[in-house]
Order: sequence, then C-alpha cells, then structure tokens
Amino acid sequence: MGRMKPSAWIKRLLPRGLYGRAALILIVPVVTIQLVVSSVFLQRHFEDVTRQLTGALSLDLNLILATMDEDGPVAAQALARAVSVEIGEPRIESGNHWYFYDLSGVIVIETLEQQVPGVIGVDLRSDEREVHVVVDRGAEPPLAMTITRRRASAAAPHQLLVIMVATGVLMTLVAFVFLRNQLRPIRRLAEAAEAFGKGRRTEYHPSGALEVRSAGRAFLDMRARIEGYLEQRTLMLSGVSHDLRTPLTRMRLALGMLEDVPERAELVQDVDEMEALLNTFLDFARGDALDDLELTDPMALVSRVVENARRGGGEVALDLPDDAPEVLIRPMAVQRALGNLISNALRYGDRAAVSVAILERSLRITVEDPGRGIPAHRREEALRPFIRLDDARNQNKGSGVGLGLAIAHDIARRHGGSLALRDSVAMGGLRVDLTLPR
Ligand SMILES: Nc1ncnc2c1ncn2[C@@H]1O[C@H](COP(=O)(O)OP(=O)(O)OP(=O)(O)O)[C@@H](O)[C@H]1O
Ligand SMILES: [Mg+2]
Repeated sequence: MGRMKPSAWIKRLLPRGLYGRAALILIVPVVTIQLVVSSVFLQRHFEDVTRQLTGALSLDLNLILATMDEDGPVAAQALARAVSVEIGEPRIESGNHWYFYDLSGVIVIETLEQQVPGVIGVDLRSDEREVHVVVDRGAEPPLAMTITRRRASAAAPHQLLVIMVATGVLMTLVAFVFLRNQLRPIRRLAEAAEAFGKGRRTEYHPSGALEVRSAGRAFLDMRARIEGYLEQRTLMLSGVSHDLRTPLTRMRLALGMLEDVPERAELVQDVDEMEALLNTFLDFARGDALDDLELTDPMALVSRVVENARRGGGEVALDLPDDAPEVLIRPMAVQRALGNLISNALRYGDRAAVSVAILERSLRITVEDPGRGIPAHRREEALRPFIRLDDARNQNKGSGVGLGLAIAHDIARRHGGSLALRDSVAMGGLRVDLTLPR
C-alpha cells in the first residue's frame, strides 16, 4: 500500500453511506456537549461543594486544637468524639498522599492547609474512605486527626452521570429514527435512478423533504423525456422501414411476373438486399424494446449464440467459467449483441474466440479475433451507427450496414453496462468486452 494523504485516511475512516454520516453528525455534537457540560460544569460544582465541606470541617479541627491547648487533652478528646473526629498517632510523618484520579482530594488538601494552622501532612491514600490530617504541635509530638471522607468532599455524581448518559442515548435514538425517515426518500430516489440507468423501470413517487421531492420530480421528468425519445426513435425507424416494405413487396411481385431477362435477376438481388437492410434497421429501431428483463443463465446463452455461429460455418472457440450465477438481462437483446460481435470477428478476422468472466459486480463476455483490429483512434467512430471503416477490405464477404457494433453498444448501455474495444493480446486482432452489471 502506498503512502496516503491524511485527507485520504480520514475519508477512509469516515462512514461512506448517508446513514453513517448522518449518525456521525448527530452523535458527535451530542457527545461533545455532554463531555463539555460534565467536565466544566460538574467539575466546578463539585469543587465548590468540596471546598465548603472541607471549610466546615476545618472549623471543627481548629476548635479541637484550641481546646487541647487551653483545656487539655481530655477535654479535646471529649469534643472530638462529639463531632466524630478520631484523635490518634500519625500514620505518616508528613507530606500529602492521594491518588491522581482523586480530583476532589486535591481541593481537600488545599483547603485544609489553608485553614488549619500547623498541618504538615494529609493522607487520603491509606484508606480512601478517610481523611487523615497530621498536625505539628510544636514542643509536643505531632498529632493525627481522622475524619470520614464524606464530611470533606461531595460524593461522586453517579446519579447525575447516569441520567445524562441515559438521556443522551435516548435523544440520539429518537433523533436517529426521525433522521431515518428523512433519509429514506433519498435512498429510494437513488434506487430508482440506479435502476433506470440499468434499463429497469421501477415504481417511484417523490416523497420526503421539499428538496428531495423536487429532485424526485426532476428525475421523473427526465425519465419520461428519455423514454419519449426512445419511443420516438423506435416509431420513426420502424415506421419508415415498414412504409418502405410495402412498395418493395409490390416490386417483388411485379418482378415475379416479368419475363426472364438478365436484368431481372439483378433486380431481384437488389430487392433482397434492400429487404435485408430494412430488417436490420427494424432490429436497430426495436433494440430490446420487445424483450423483458429475465433471470438468465449466461453460460447457456453464450453457448447458444456460439452454436448458431458454428452452424453458419464459423470457427468459434468458447471458454466458459466453471460456474456462473444467473443474471438479470434481456436475453434476446444480449444474444443479438453477442451475435453481432461474433459475426464481426468472423467477417474481419476469420476466426473468433469467446470467453465469459464473472466479475464482482458484473458479467463480462469477451470476443477476440486474429484480424487487423481497429486502430485506437477510430474505435469511437466504429461504435456509431451506419459507420463502416475501410470499405474496400473484405468485400468478398459481403458488406454490412455499419450497425452491428452500434446495436451491441446500445444494448450494453441499456443494461447499464458497456462495450469496450481493445487490442487482442492473445490473438492479435480486435478484442471486444461486453460488460453487463449483475
Ligand atoms: N472484429 C473486427 N475487426 C476489424 N474491424 C472491425 C471488427 N469489427 C468491426 N470492425 C470495423 O468496424 C466497422 C463497424 O462495424 P459494425 O459491426 O458496426 O458494422 P459492419 O460489420 O460493417 O456492418 P453490420 O454489422 O451492420 O453488418 C466495420 O465496418 C469494420 O470496419
Ligand atoms: Mg458487423
């Protein structure tokens, strides 16, 4: 794997679907707000409470120390018991001991040092439930006072945290449900557009937010216009062909009644040729209009076309994969496209090799031949209707109309697939890849 730009990495990490992205947009602010609120607001709040509690506690400790100075240890002990302070031997000599995560502990120590004169050490570590304060008594040995921790700092804000997390999760879920409803129309529009691109017509009604609706309506208009064009083209071409056929039939009849002169045979041949041309035009005009999408076994279809070509006297090699899933295609149309490619290969290359490859998202049918091929700069031209390159060559094999590749190209596109012309590495002539989405 090559080095990637940081932006590429971020793109790879971020979700690609609309749902994922929307969820991210939704969750990131919620989590950020919660974090900011809890860390800033709660932290402050609990610091204040801790400071107040420890301040009150310091008053008690100071009172005990003053009583000890003035009335002696017995009176001090009595007072200490009354306010639940334990007086005893220091556990530590001096210095402060606390756990790094004990945030309020820092405040406790700070407040005690400020408000109780003579504090030389505070231990919050030996027992987390206790505050152990060591006080210097000048001439006398140091003294320790132990108080329960609850009197010094506020308890952890468990309840508040639980409520915050719970409401956060709940709100995110609610928002996500609403969001799903907003995203569904977009996904339906995408599905309809994708299906239409593949030549399938699906039921679609614009719905959802205003913008999605207007995109949906635009799509419907566009689809109607494209369908209109296709229909118009079919009607026009088939109309013309049909109308021409009637006079042709009359001509044939008239020719049949003519005396047998040499010109007659030529005329009959011309009429035949014209009829063949008309049939091709009709084929082109109809395209796959008569053919519906069907789940088809691609291997059987390819074998059938190859068989037909072999029966017509062509030398066609066939290479099929071991196993191929069924694909949703217009079988007659694909058959015609493949037939055109094979007949080209036989006409311009004498021999054809057909192979089928199952790709991740598509089916590829390849036709190769050992002929002269088509130079790269003329390939686009060759796909256009009524274009024949290099009229002079191969005339003995009969010349076509120049529709074969155009029809195949059209059929591929109507399936949402493609038709690509390449150099055949294996055979030296032309290689045509007919790719259909699965
Ligand atoms: N396999 C091939 N090798 C070399 N040239 C080709 C090959 N296939 C097509 N061509 C060139 O591309 C042109 C267009 O091909 P296309 O199949 O559209 O028309 P056609 O074969 O001339 O007539 P039609 O197929 O309508 O009978 C051909 O005239 C030919 O010059
Ligand atoms: Mg052809």
